[in-house]
Amino acid sequence: MMDAKSKERHVHEVFERIAPKYDLMNDIISFRRHKAWRRFTMRKMDIQPGQSSLDLCCGTCDWTIALAKESKGGRTVGLDFSRNMLEIGQAKVDKLGYSNQIELVQGNAMELPFEDNSFDFVTIGFGLRNIPDIVKTLKEMKRVVKPGGKIVCLDMSKPTWQPFKSIYYFYFERVMPLFGKWFVKSYEQYRWLPESLASFPDLQALAELFRETGMRNVKAYPFFGGVAALHMGTKGNEIV
Ligand SMILES: C[S@@+](CC[C@H](N)C(=O)[O-])C[C@H]1O[C@@H](n2cnc3c(N)ncnc32)[C@H](O)[C@@H]1O
Repeated sequence: MMDAKSKERHVHEVFERIAPKYDLMNDIISFRRHKAWRRFTMRKMDIQPGQSSLDLCCGTCDWTIALAKESKGGRTVGLDFSRNMLEIGQAKVDKLGYSNQIELVQGNAMELPFEDNSFDFVTIGFGLRNIPDIVKTLKEMKRVVKPGGKIVCLDMSKPTWQPFKSIYYFYFERVMPLFGKWFVKSYEQYRWLPESLASFPDLQALAELFRETGMRNVKAYPFFGGVAALHMGTKGNEIV
């Protein structure tokens, strides 16, 4: 088991290295399912024109751009600690014409450089699992979201139904890192994926952490037998 600092350093190295192939590998290892999960998430969020979003661990910015598009001009900020992932994200933002609406910030999701109550939505996509202190991150998300706003997490999760569970873990732990080796010559980096899930809370446990952080109306939606999940919670109107 890695300590918090080693985990942070390791995750940083992984994403700095796989950045150029990250989007391609997402399509391959999830059999493009991640696109449907992202669309479902956007429908559930129901963003209104002008609403603001902060997308943590924004990486190559697909979700950041979707948030900007849906808000039709709302302030949109993406934050990530990997310079290489952000560079690819920035190129997409520029190419799609969102440079005036989207601001990208290099920073750490556990210590957000934003004022309290700043955004209507704070999202984190396939990122929370990579962060050493989940509770600290959820607290930061709650701090910077506005009263009545939502925090939203889309990430891998843990299927519970046998025999699907056994087949899935065989794929996830044995086959998928080989895809990493064959397609992007990064076996060790793709070994990290199953390792990062091992200590991550399951569907119910993560919903409970949302509640313990003080989020209300917490919803958890499993995808594809529970291999991924969407969690969403609303911040109350009390002053923080
Ligand atoms: C699996 S990628 C997800 C990218 C994107 N959100 C998506 O949905 O495709 C995880 C991202 O989290 C970033 N990350 C991991 N730990 C972080 C931290 N503590 N602070 C900021 N970014 C972090 C990595 O650099 C990487 O870009």
